[in-house]
Amino acid sequence: MVSKNAVLKDMFYGGDYNPEQWSEDVWQDDMRLMKKAGVNIVSVGIFSWAVLQTSPDTYDFGWLDRMMDLLAQNGIYADLATATASPPAWMARHYPDSLPVDENGVRYSQGARQHYCPNSKAFRLLAAKLVRKLAERYKHHPALAMWHINNEYGCHISRCYCDQCAAEFRVWLQKRYGTLDELNARWGTNFWSQKYYDWEEIGLPRKTPTYPNPGQDLDYARFMSDSLLECYLTEYRILREETPGIPIMTNFMGFFKPLDYFEWAKHMDVVTWDSYPEPTAGIPVGAAMAHDLMRSLKGGEPFILMEQVTSQVNWRRHNPVKRPGVMRLWSYQTVARGGDGVMFFQWRQSRAGAEKFHGAMVSHTGDENSRVYREVEQLGNELKRLTPVVGSRVKAKVAILFDWHNWWALELSSKPNWDVRYVEQIAHYYKPLFEQNIAVDFVQPTGDLSGYSVVFAPTLYMVEPGVKENLESYVAGGGTLLTTFFSGMVDENDRIHLGGYPAPLRKLLGLTVEELDPMLPEQTNRIVVSGLAPEADGEYECSLWADVIRLEGAQALAAFAEDFYAGGPAVTVNAFGSGKAYYVGTRGEESFTSRLVAKVLADAGVQAPLAAEPGVEVQCREKEDQRFVFVLNHLPRPASITLPAGEHRELIGGEALSGTLELAPNGVAVMQLAP
Ligand code: GAL
Repeated sequence: MVSKNAVLKDMFYGGDYNPEQWSEDVWQDDMRLMKKAGVNIVSVGIFSWAVLQTSPDTYDFGWLDRMMDLLAQNGIYADLATATASPPAWMARHYPDSLPVDENGVRYSQGARQHYCPNSKAFRLLAAKLVRKLAERYKHHPALAMWHINNEYGCHISRCYCDQCAAEFRVWLQKRYGTLDELNARWGTNFWSQKYYDWEEIGLPRKTPTYPNPGQDLDYARFMSDSLLECYLTEYRILREETPGIPIMTNFMGFFKPLDYFEWAKHMDVVTWDSYPEPTAGIPVGAAMAHDLMRSLKGGEPFILMEQVTSQVNWRRHNPVKRPGVMRLWSYQTVARGGDGVMFFQWRQSRAGAEKFHGAMVSHTGDENSRVYREVEQLGNELKRLTPVVGSRVKAKVAILFDWHNWWALELSSKPNWDVRYVEQIAHYYKPLFEQNIAVDFVQPTGDLSGYSVVFAPTLYMVEPGVKENLESYVAGGGTLLTTFFSGMVDENDRIHLGGYPAPLRKLLGLTVEELDPMLPEQTNRIVVSGLAPEADGEYECSLWADVIRLEGAQALAAFAEDFYAGGPAVTVNAFGSGKAYYVGTRGEESFTSRLVAKVLADAGVQAPLAAEPGVEVQCREKEDQRFVFVLNHLPRPASITLPAGEHRELIGGEALSGTLELAPNGVAVMQLAP
């Protein structure tokens, strides 16, 4: 793996740059404005295939040669794209089966972007040819700093149902299961007369009269993530061979269901991702959660925010602008959570095309005379002062288990309660951690938990081989685990773990769940909490789900107040080895979850880096013996924070701070703490 700082040691600052949309005299002004704004890197060529290759056999690199030279002359690096995200019209014409097909068998048309089937041989071959040419041509170019493969794989089309995909799916299944007997057993095909006698009988989960086989559906999700990954790897291998010293990546999309990013991240030199929180929806907890996930994909290595918008997007029904100061504040949130770069889509607002109303670093005014550009310029010049932070790490004592396979399986059709959505359940526990300023890593269920004091595992529906043992040894060794309803239900093929729910976790949790009683949308119950903590005891509302629990060694901390299981356990804790395993058999109202989380953290000795009122975000990054504390005021009013003893250096303004820190609304401080 190549470090992303191989070339550039500062925070990355820049954006997607589409110079082919502009005449070359505008390029000169772009360079001037970029330098003024502190831009040090731009992503070039992401959607340039049609202007780089004018027919199956003719290429035109002239404009890109001139652009790369211009960037180098101006001291700006290129995150050079492989341009394969939007195939040219000639490809659809000459190779119509390169276009993807939907679940009804309808072929998509060319005319937007991302119109390729991931298993299309024509697409893969033509993409590989283009990438080889780009790599050969620019491998020694002084502007080349990083490769940007394709763009947001799966963003619009994450599934194709064409015959090429069906054929490849069969090959994939043969590799995975070896024999048809094994496949039939894993998919449980004795149900509904689904048994296969020949591999050729197996198709994709296209439009079926009712629920398709869940095992097939789940494997299809895996297969599609792998197919797109294979597209990435086809390009990656060429680039790695041609340019062994240049970092390679593609841009992710946070909690994006179709791609198993933990698997993908193994092949990325640096994780980069695109974040578009709703600009006026208040504190961006969801963005924070996604930053933490992205940082976690490569074991805590800093990531880069590859895209965000300066002001407004064009693709929501209503597209308000970010208010003054918000873009800056949220950019620092990125850095606080492990970002070593902040970039935008895009540099110059397009004149034509579907994104002409999408915000950019340079607006339609075309110059430096816009509020947006002024904010861009301020941020870019501030980030230059954050070079000491580059490479530092967030050190979390709390982990949340996260797994794409669990996500896919949990949200397959025909479940007890279709409203149980994985990311919502994760967010329900993430939110109080965010509000209490506790750093969180996301870890796969089979991952190393030894460094964490507390591990949350909401709706861990699928327990694959190795997970039970991992969780048991973590808790036995003194860890604290909290899991919730609808966990431990199925194996890696979505077959029930027999032996009483949640069979593989029963011993660890000291209980069994006798019945699952999902609630109707408007239905609620109540839980009576006693013996948890004085500040947490009391009565709370709960909804979504109720487990009918029989204790087998665990102690009840809360009981349901209503229904035939009134008085029965709702929240429990079990001593296991030197640790504790909590179980929450319902969805408690937020105030309950917040108090429960606070109590669990306090018992495990986990604390925020600084005390701050709700709405003031505090995160810490560390490098060797240096500690950088980020304080972000999301409140509409000033906030004051008591600092630890000593004199601390504030990196943005350069002044020394001690005593109390006063922050205006949207205000930010990045302090290097006194040793
Ligand atoms: C991203 C994409 C960009 C641009 C942006 C608009 O999904 O990578 O090319 O379309 O959205 O918000």
